[in-house]
Amino acid sequence: MRYGAKLLDHFENPRNVGSLDEADASVGTAVITAGECGDVTKLQLRIDATGRIAEARFKTFGCGAAIAAGSYATEWLTGKTVAEALAIEDARIAEELELGPQKLHCSAMTQQAVRAAIDDWRGKNKA
Ligand code: FES
Repeated sequence: MRYGAKLLDHFENPRNVGSLDEADASVGTAVITAGECGDVTKLQLRIDATGRIAEARFKTFGCGAAIAAGSYATEWLTGKTVAEALAIEDARIAEELELGPQKLHCSAMTQQAVRAAIDDWRGKNKA
């Protein structure tokens, strides 16, 4: 399988790897397992008082595409509103990273993590 230059760049130099304080009310956390392969991604978003994503961090026990998807998504998410973040589609991530059909579940895992992290943040803040 061949990977595109953008995917390789995010895979070799992943952005925003790490963790935020899960106990902080401004942080939404999600841990998602891909049903297709059993790989896991943790995604955290710090959402400020204006409803914008101030920070995004991820870790993954996943393939190169999952690492690249987490890196690309966290870069894209930073500065976006919650509504904009909810509109992210796995197809967009897959297109940006030129993922083939057998790798679509890797970007889908990241998209699910974004939604679950926002749900977690909403639950903490009744937003
Ligand atoms: Fe499991 Fe890509 S093969 S996340």
